[in-house]
Amino acid sequence: MQALTSYPHMLHGCDYNPEQWLNRPDILAQDIEQMKQANINCVSVGIFSWSSLEPREGDYQLDWLANIINKLYANGIYTVLATPSGAKPSWMAKKYPEIRRVSAERVRDLQGGRHNHCYTSPVYREKVRQINTKLAERFADHPAVILWHVSNEIQGECHCDLCQAAFREWLKKRYGSLDELNLAWWTTFWSHTYSDWDEIESPSPIGEPCIHGLTLDWKRFCTAQTRSFFENEIAPLKAANPDIPVTANFMGFYDGINYWELAKSLDVISWDSYPNWHTQPDGDETYNAFWADAFSDMCRSMLGKPFLLMENTPSQTNWMEVCRPKTWGFLRLTSIANLAHGADSIQYFQWRQSRGCAEKFHGAVMTHANRTDTRVFREVSGVGAMLKKLDGLCGAKTTANIAILYDLESHWAVNDAKGPRNGSIGDNDLMLRMYLPFWKAGYAVDFVNSEMDFSGCHLLLVPMLYMLRADVAKRIRDYVKQGGTVLLTLHTGLVDEHDLCYMGDTPAEGLAELAGIRFLETDPLYENQHETMRIVKAPFPLAESYKLERLCERVAAEGAEVLAVYEHDNPCMPDDLPCLTRSSFGRGTAYYLGAFAEDRFFSDFLISLAERLGIQPAIDTTFPHGVVAAARTGADGTKYYFVMNWTREQKSVNLPHPLKDFETGKVYQNKLPLGPYGAKILI
Ligand code: GAL
Repeated sequence: MQALTSYPHMLHGCDYNPEQWLNRPDILAQDIEQMKQANINCVSVGIFSWSSLEPREGDYQLDWLANIINKLYANGIYTVLATPSGAKPSWMAKKYPEIRRVSAERVRDLQGGRHNHCYTSPVYREKVRQINTKLAERFADHPAVILWHVSNEIQGECHCDLCQAAFREWLKKRYGSLDELNLAWWTTFWSHTYSDWDEIESPSPIGEPCIHGLTLDWKRFCTAQTRSFFENEIAPLKAANPDIPVTANFMGFYDGINYWELAKSLDVISWDSYPNWHTQPDGDETYNAFWADAFSDMCRSMLGKPFLLMENTPSQTNWMEVCRPKTWGFLRLTSIANLAHGADSIQYFQWRQSRGCAEKFHGAVMTHANRTDTRVFREVSGVGAMLKKLDGLCGAKTTANIAILYDLESHWAVNDAKGPRNGSIGDNDLMLRMYLPFWKAGYAVDFVNSEMDFSGCHLLLVPMLYMLRADVAKRIRDYVKQGGTVLLTLHTGLVDEHDLCYMGDTPAEGLAELAGIRFLETDPLYENQHETMRIVKAPFPLAESYKLERLCERVAAEGAEVLAVYEHDNPCMPDDLPCLTRSSFGRGTAYYLGAFAEDRFFSDFLISLAERLGIQPAIDTTFPHGVVAAARTGADGTKYYFVMNWTREQKSVNLPHPLKDFETGKVYQNKLPLGPYGAKILI
């Protein structure tokens, strides 16, 4: 797959819906002038335009779009051209009911909304292929078109008869025989054995919710089917011009489909970032900011290159419980944070507020007032002016020596399991707890899934890898044998890829041996209950004890050194039960953490461990609370440093070496002042 090479500048753009204004040529003309003023250099068009592009079956009306694209181009604005499949036209839904999605409860949708087509329907696939062919024939060689934006926020699942039949075919290929499938799904349980393929139905609250193997395979199938729908979408685009890259915009930690699989069909990853800003009374945004940066890092890691920020609001959304606008200066801060974590664009939803329907009060660069002298317009123009000077950052790389193994299939499985703690098992939370200290201290982190190579990292973190494939276990063992350092945690290596429990000691597939421990039992806690980890042998300076919550796993040390034990108020429980251990394996080291520890533990433990391993942060200093940093290296070797202040307070950072403000040229020798919500790019 190809890199986004056709446009050598940082993109600054927005979703643009000219089809809503075709009867207002005055507005369309203003749009271009105002976009130029806002330093917009690209717009995403066509996202939900199907009924304007094909108002009646087979009646393709592409001239208006050509007109818009030409005018934009003549004014220096490039086009990210969307395929319209995210919203089907009414005529199509009426004529071909099969394209309307069926819910898990087996109810077919009426027409309406968006993102609700059946992705198996041959009719819908054919209609998509036809419209995409028309778009490609007309625009694939247009010099304005720099990227295909395919099927906005592709998502969801359909349970119609076509999908059921496709699911059965997929299962036949996967298992070969019903006997194999029955074995893999453990269907003798509650007498759920299948005697005919036609008996198999997708999981449903009114049907089969208890066969974990079925649920897992259904999720895998939904991902495979989404990907094949996507491949069907891009075939005519690639046939017309293979050099225009394709993207799909992801929705953060959405887990309905496996983005890591879809990423295999993309040339560039993009995502839509909508953190719920300004929720805290003291204005401290640290905890809102870090998960967004974590997902940016995940996007950057998936293809090992920069991603595009396809959407963020220039001001406010209209769908949160409370839709606070980004406060004064905050857009610059969030923009710089996105660049810091690997974005090669800042794009907004949306250019202009619509006059009617569901998003009329969603924030936009241009509001209904249609003025350019607004705060939001000024701030957007300011971001654009900054991006204009940042060509050197385009494609700049991030070097990470720390990797977190995050496997979505394991996430699906552990959250479908019953017990030991229902509601929220917290695997994502544990993963983010591991990410947080590195984010705070300015260390770059990569995310890898079970398929990806992690052999080159210096520190591998494995939060709750409940579903463990034998080949992954082997790669973890080999990695440590050859000198790597790994942190394994509770609830790891309990089931195989069919979600069948491993027999024998766990963590399975040799990870117990690797860690020098053996799992005994899990003790889940209620929200109001805690235990304590008491450090008995600190490998580096640590506090005396740390608070534990949610899940406490009792393990036996079998060769591992015990670094911490559980402290508890149960007189019947032994005092020396290990909670944190260390073990040498080959040339490397394996740590095992048995419980959900508080943030302070991860911060103390992981940063010391990284230091011990010689891993360097972006800027080697101690940051004041709320100030974080990251770095990227451009193709010419220039290192860009990004420093962000997520608080409303004035802050000052001690610099280990002088750095120059990239925008003003001012050199900071040893102190970098940052105003409230301030952010700087330094070289
Ligand atoms: C996104 C979507 C956009 C718009 C936006 C509003 O999820 O892709 O079309 O609806 O949300 O925040």
